[in-house]
Amino acid sequence: MSISNVVASYNELSKLDLRVLRVIEVLHRNYEYVPVRRIVKYMNLSEEVINKSISKMNKLKLLVRRGPDNVRLTFPAYDILSIHTMVKRGVIDAIAPTPLGVGKESDVYAAESSSGDKYALKFHRIGRVSFRNTRKYRVWIGERRHITWLYEAKISAHMEYMALTEAYRAKVPVPKPRAITRHLVAMEYINGIELFKIRLSNPESVLEQIISAIEDLLRINIIHGDLNEYNILVNPSSEKITIIDWPQWMYANVKGSKTILMRDLNIILRYFKSNYGLNISIDAVMGRLAPLIPSSELPPEKVYSRLIKRITSLVS
Ligand SMILES: Nc1ncnc2c1ncn2[C@@H]1O[C@H](COP(=O)(O)OP(=O)(O)OP(=O)(O)O)[C@@H](O)[C@H]1O
Ligand SMILES: [Mg+2]
Repeated sequence: MSISNVVASYNELSKLDLRVLRVIEVLHRNYEYVPVRRIVKYMNLSEEVINKSISKMNKLKLLVRRGPDNVRLTFPAYDILSIHTMVKRGVIDAIAPTPLGVGKESDVYAAESSSGDKYALKFHRIGRVSFRNTRKYRVWIGERRHITWLYEAKISAHMEYMALTEAYRAKVPVPKPRAITRHLVAMEYINGIELFKIRLSNPESVLEQIISAIEDLLRINIIHGDLNEYNILVNPSSEKITIIDWPQWMYANVKGSKTILMRDLNIILRYFKSNYGLNISIDAVMGRLAPLIPSSELPPEKVYSRLIKRITSLVS
């Protein structure tokens, strides 16, 4: 469903409809398909009123039925809940109809607040985190949570927000994080072009900015994990970089992270070699980074258990 349709559906919803969506979201903690009678009981309203709202939202493709008596949320419904929260918090007031980027893993739109601040809204679609870092998230999703895609998208968004917050604080060039709810991250809108789309006038300086950002990230124990010419935006006039797309970041002191760091670096160095003829060896760069690479290699379980606790407390 396009964002225009999502927003159009949002505009058709009454306060009661939004409350029904919210109640279904809460009841998803216990049910994959939520029994209508549970919604009725929870809201203490007549079955007729609830059923009318459910039929309306089913027609708008916000709810899917299983049999006559059970329903579940769809992604557009989840988008609406998130947009509603952002609007209520005063973060955004309007969303641009054309996406900045659409992919398998996210949809990104420009949005504006009532005071004219511009943001990028990133709707996470799948949980890349759980594929890459660990299946351990399943330990807690398993028992309590019944819509896996919903929680995975949510964790992915929270992982991204956490990295943006820490990197921004350390003055690494990333979009300033603004707000998060569910699977939706609002961040500063960057006036930039993806590295692969722009012909640089000073490629040496841009490569140096990237390596220097990798150094600053290592100082705060972070590796991006998906660094490439698509995830670096370059301002067309200043050629200043901004690194985007963070859900798969990892800690630098975790076993296996050095391989990921070298993969990131290789991709970047190869890009500058084949497009600008810059011949910089990975060994030279690794030599420069060596003092910043943590010597300890902790097992992932040990390092991520705290992170998982923190995230689960945030997304519950
Ligand atoms: N803060 C931002 N400001 C401006 N544009 C942005 C911002 N964040 C993302 N974009 C745009 O959205 C696109 C996709 O964003 P991002 O790389 O974070 O998502 P993704 O998960 O890679 O999505 P995909 O599934 O398409 O690969 C970017 O290539 C960029 O054009
Ligand atoms: Mg990307």
